Amino acid sequence: MLVASTELPLTLLRRGKVRDVYSVDDERVLLVATDRVSAFDVVMGETIPFKGAVLTQITAWWLRHLDGRVRHHMLSSDTDEILAELPALGPYADELRDRMMLATRADVFPVECVIRGYISGSAWKEYAAHGTLAGEKLPADLRESEQLPQPLFSPATKAEAGHDENITIERMREIVGADAATELERLTRLVYDYGRSIAAERGIIIADTKLEFGYTLDAGGNFDPAAVILIDEVLTPDSSRFWPKKSFQPGRSQPSFDKQPLRDYLESLRRAGKWTGDYPPPLLPADVVQATSDRYLEIFRLLTDRPLDTSSV
Ligand SMILES: Nc1ncnc2c1ncn2[C@@H]1O[C@H](COP(=O)(O)OP(=O)(O)O)[C@@H](O)[C@H]1O
Ligand SMILES: [Mg+2]
Repeated sequence: MLVASTELPLTLLRRGKVRDVYSVDDERVLLVATDRVSAFDVVMGETIPFKGAVLTQITAWWLRHLDGRVRHHMLSSDTDEILAELPALGPYADELRDRMMLATRADVFPVECVIRGYISGSAWKEYAAHGTLAGEKLPADLRESEQLPQPLFSPATKAEAGHDENITIERMREIVGADAATELERLTRLVYDYGRSIAAERGIIIADTKLEFGYTLDAGGNFDPAAVILIDEVLTPDSSRFWPKKSFQPGRSQPSFDKQPLRDYLESLRRAGKWTGDYPPPLLPADVVQATSDRYLEIFRLLTDRPLDTSSV
């Protein structure tokens, strides 16, 4: 079932670009990934078949792999298990199938933990113009999409609306505190290193990714770095650039397994002067929607080594 938006009998905490977040109780939230799609920080009017299920189930797959390595927020991503826990959702079972994650409720650090193994996107733009990333100097003579000598942790602020802004690590320390900043960087590196080694075995380069973390305070209301947890979505095609290893070639932008067909279409409209890059979004042709859906399903299959069961989604 295609889902643009949900209205569940729980308290809605937030409607993000993609997920509807509900409060379950003081300790738990329910994240529901809809089929909404955003590009260039604009949410499109159309929905992408199977996208919500792909995003939730890829995150769940990674978090199961990360069990024992990184503390994370997932309590369950199994629809029947969650419905048994929250019987009020029973009447919504069909629209919720495979897209829910029951999670530990966290206070969210107001920074996006971005890590880059390759230079691309906004990082490439800044580097090409100034030789820097978030103001910090990078080696000279890097080509577009080239692998960096080592993964670069490059945090950004979470903008309430519009584009996130790259910040220096110094700025991040001011925002979250030195202990938390150190822990967030350590965990980000750990997740990225682990994720990219698994993806590499499947012929996929994870060029970069963005993680979010939260924390729970101890009984005395104090912050303990050991109480940092990985939240939100993890190593999905919405939060990461996935490139096919086969066709990788530095010196140009790479074809990628994410919403590239959508981005390409939107770029062509912008170049033709038919879209400003802001709201309202343009209408999407059916073939662009289909190609985008196919990409999401393909990356699910490549990563997890099985197709998504689309019969009940
Ligand atoms: N365990 C959690 N506890 C509290 N908030 C969370 C948790 N996991 C994710 N979130 C928040 O839920 C929202 C997910 O919705 P999303 O559509 O990704 O929003 P955005 O448009 O901000 O990217 C984000 O604001 C994220 O910070
Ligand atoms: Mg998000």
